[in-house]
Parts: sequence; structure tokens; C-alpha cells
Amino acid sequence: MNTSIQKAAEAIRTPGGLLVFTGAGISVESGIPSFRGQGGLWEQYDPAFIEIENFYARSEYCWAQIKKIFYDHWGAASPNPAHYAIAAMQKHGWVDTIVTQNIDALHQRAGARDVVEFHGTLDRLVCTKCRFRATPTPELLSGAVPRCPDCGAMLKPDFVFFGEGIPEEASDRAFRSAMTASAILVVGTSGEVMPACQLPYVVKRHGGLVIEVNPDESAFTRGGITDIFLQGKAGEVLPKLLAAAENEAKDPA
Ligand code: OAD
Repeated sequence: MNTSIQKAAEAIRTPGGLLVFTGAGISVESGIPSFRGQGGLWEQYDPAFIEIENFYARSEYCWAQIKKIFYDHWGAASPNPAHYAIAAMQKHGWVDTIVTQNIDALHQRAGARDVVEFHGTLDRLVCTKCRFRATPTPELLSGAVPRCPDCGAMLKPDFVFFGEGIPEEASDRAFRSAMTASAILVVGTSGEVMPACQLPYVVKRHGGLVIEVNPDESAFTRGGITDIFLQGKAGEVLPKLLAAAENEAKDPA
């Protein structure tokens, strides 16, 4: 396994061929905890509050948890240098598609465009009955479970709860991009959640390169599909990778 930032910089500059794939680890330096591992969300909370059947059965309790964790705490977070580096790579024209498993919208706040949100987003509420979409305004977020302005049924955040399916359009776009990508830049994901974790394998099967940024090993490094492993925190490694690729662009070997 290669660890060369220079090699990774060369690979990510292949015009239009890069798929960026991110997970919770990219937002850790923004103050948002990851899900698994030490200090992860699931160490502190039982994930049942985002199980869809439980949400219907115990709406008031689940909503109170959702509001506290996702809107009051995560909502106050700002993008970090890793999110800005990815937005800059996209502006350079190196990125074909950005796929994130994250629901925190920090890629977009850093200036990234057209992000495929594989697990949906906190930035929208959706009606559990008529699928009306609403912006989570302070009024809708204050107090009890918000209600649909159209039909009066409960609203929920428009992200994928346990027991719900992946949005079809997001999944189609992500897997189509994986089939043609010359490289995938995998950042801050344990690689344990299906079906998103299949993306690097699809890239690899189609002849693309797997580049990974993570302070620890993941299912991809352990499984031997990572070609270039840049070990470290996303907020430190990605700005360096961006700088190396920009230098490469100015001064090709
Ligand atoms: P995990 O919590 O499973 O993994 C987070 C990864 O980030 C781990 O591999 C860490 O080593 C790594 N990490 C920690 N700090 C980092 C840093 N500063 N820079 C880079 N990496 C760092 O999160 P995901 O793989 O994203 O689903 O989890 C996938 C899905 O599981 C989530 O989207 C969520 C959850 O159930 C839904 O919400 C539907």
C-alpha cells in the first residue's frame, strides 16, 4: 500500500474522473462526533430514536432527541479545512461527483455544489404522509413534533432513518459515477454501512484507484482495496493534498 501524497495528488487531477466519498470523520474537526468507535454517537445514545417505527410510536421522545442532537448541537457546526479543500478540488474541475453519507450539509456550506446526499439531509423536513418538503425554520423546530403545513401530519428530517430505504436518485448517481471514476477519494468513513460502503469496491472493480484519508484503518484498508493510504486527520491531510495537486498543476513533472 502506497502512502505518497504526491502519487495521490497526481491521481486526483485526472480531469473529471474523481469520485469523492465522505463519511462522519470529515466532520469530526467541526465538532460533530462520528457514529462508531470511541466518543462516537452510538456510545452515548441508543440509535432507536432514529428508527422509523420507533419514531411513529414514540414521536415526542424521538423528536426531542433529534432536535437536541442534530439541530441544536450539529446545527451550530461550521465547515473545516477538509470541507473547503474538497470544494476547491471541485472548483478546479477535478471532481466528477461528491457523494457524502453525512446529513450535516457542511460540504455545501463550504461551497461545494451538486453534492449527492446518500443518506439525505438535516436541511429539509419531509411530511411522513404526503411527502411535502419544508425548510426547518426556527418556528418549525421550536416545541413539539413539527406538523406539515399542507396536510397536518408529522414532519421528520429528510434523512434516512433505520428501517427506511436509500433515496433512489442519490444511489443511482453514486453508483453510476463509481463505474466510470478513475479514482475515488474516500475520507473519514469506517466502511461498515451498506450499501454506501460498496462504492470503493465498484470503483476498484472497474479499474479505478482507491485513495483513503483516515487516522485509523477502515474496512477498506483492512480488506486490502486501498491503493494509497494517507493516514491522518482529514482537516490536516486534505489541505496538503490540495496544495500538492495545485503545485503539480503549475509544475507538471
Ligand atoms: P463511522 O462513525 O462509522 O466512521 C467514522 C470514521 O471516521 C472512522 O473510520 C474514523 O477512524 C474516521 N475519523 C475519525 N476522525 C477523523 C478525522 N479527523 N478525519 C478523518 N477521519 C476521521 O461513520 P460513517 O462511516 O460515516 O447513517 O458511518 C456511516 C453511516 O452510519 C452514517 O452515514 C450513518 C450511520 O448509521 C445514517 O445516518 C443513515
